[in-house]
Amino acid sequence: MSALTKAKVQTPPLIAAARGEATPHTPVWIMRQAGRYLPEYRRVRSKTEFGALTRTPDLAAEVTLQPVRRFNLDAAILFSDIMVPVEGMGVDLTYAPGPVIAHPIRTLKDVAKLRPLVPERDVPYVLETVRMVRAELPPHVALIGFAGSPFTVLSYLVSGKPSKEFATARAFVQSEPEVTAALLDHLADSTAAYLRAQAEAGAQALMLFESWGGLLGRGDFARIALPSVQRLVSKLKDLDVPLIYFANNCWTVLDLIAGLDVQVVGLDWRGSLAQARTVLGKGKTVQGNLDPASLFAPPEVLKRRIDDVLADAGPGGGHIFNLGHGIWPETDPDAVARLVDHVHSRTEGRP
Ligand code: CP3
Repeated sequence: MSALTKAKVQTPPLIAAARGEATPHTPVWIMRQAGRYLPEYRRVRSKTEFGALTRTPDLAAEVTLQPVRRFNLDAAILFSDIMVPVEGMGVDLTYAPGPVIAHPIRTLKDVAKLRPLVPERDVPYVLETVRMVRAELPPHVALIGFAGSPFTVLSYLVSGKPSKEFATARAFVQSEPEVTAALLDHLADSTAAYLRAQAEAGAQALMLFESWGGLLGRGDFARIALPSVQRLVSKLKDLDVPLIYFANNCWTVLDLIAGLDVQVVGLDWRGSLAQARTVLGKGKTVQGNLDPASLFAPPEVLKRRIDDVLADAGPGGGHIFNLGHGIWPETDPDAVARLVDHVHSRTEGRP
């Protein structure tokens, strides 16, 4: 592409906001925006098992695009799961509906059996989905690729199934430092390759879900979870693609996260975006953080709660609006439409 043509192609607002640049409105998307709260998703799912859906590009692309057709969203997120690359590494897993691992990983021998991920060979369907979605999306809608953080993926691999507290995984990382280090290194390296391949296929931002790192104590987060994230992001430094680190339940370790080489930090609803900005510093964009429960409140209350989040984020950009965690399956899609439209109309033309 010539420099002139390139200059004419507008930067999607979400990408501009991730870089801290001015945007025409505050960009908005919803974690888990493709999913069971949408009847059109349930129709596709009624005919296809979840794992098969992630491995079938036309269906995964269709489901990725469903929320973008229905709402005025500023981004699509690839329809997949944080466990998809793990299947590509040779792990036998099913979804019920959360990931269940046939043989949990507990020894150095188990870790050595994991294939280092070669995305084009091991998960070609993900890259094909990214290419198909990018070809269909209008230019102002950004495509977000994603992966789970090394510790979050380790939690499932060691526990073997979803858990509220992940006691098995937390005891494991305290008791088996050598296996933990080997597994986290493997996951960091393979996940870096995986995210790079998504960017090369057309993903314009990359999100890393630290869904369960916040269960760790501060010392364990600093010694175990964070270095593996640092290792991962250091391998993506040359990419001109913003990285979003979703720091779920991580308010007590935000000062440590401030040192990460990422452009955006995603935050849950438990804390204040203004306080997060103080801790994270000027260079970082914040993403979040409406309570998913607010979508169940009457329309006027929902609007007020959105206004509160916008006020907390403050003027001057550097904010991507989102929920504080994934949307719940019982949510009314009309509430999502109201949310997206309200964020846009309140912030249009605002400095
Ligand atoms: O729209 C999107 O956000 C893209 C799709 C997406 C899914 N999973 C689809 C999915 C994304 C980004 C994920 C990430 C994911 N997966 C995370 C990190 C995000 C977070 O919530 O913190 C985690 C922890 C997982 C692991 C996982 N996969 C769980 C816990 C579950 C079951 C819980 C649930 O929501 O039902 C899954 C299965 C899953 N992944 C579903 C979907 C739509 C439900 C499967 C179904 O249709 O039956």
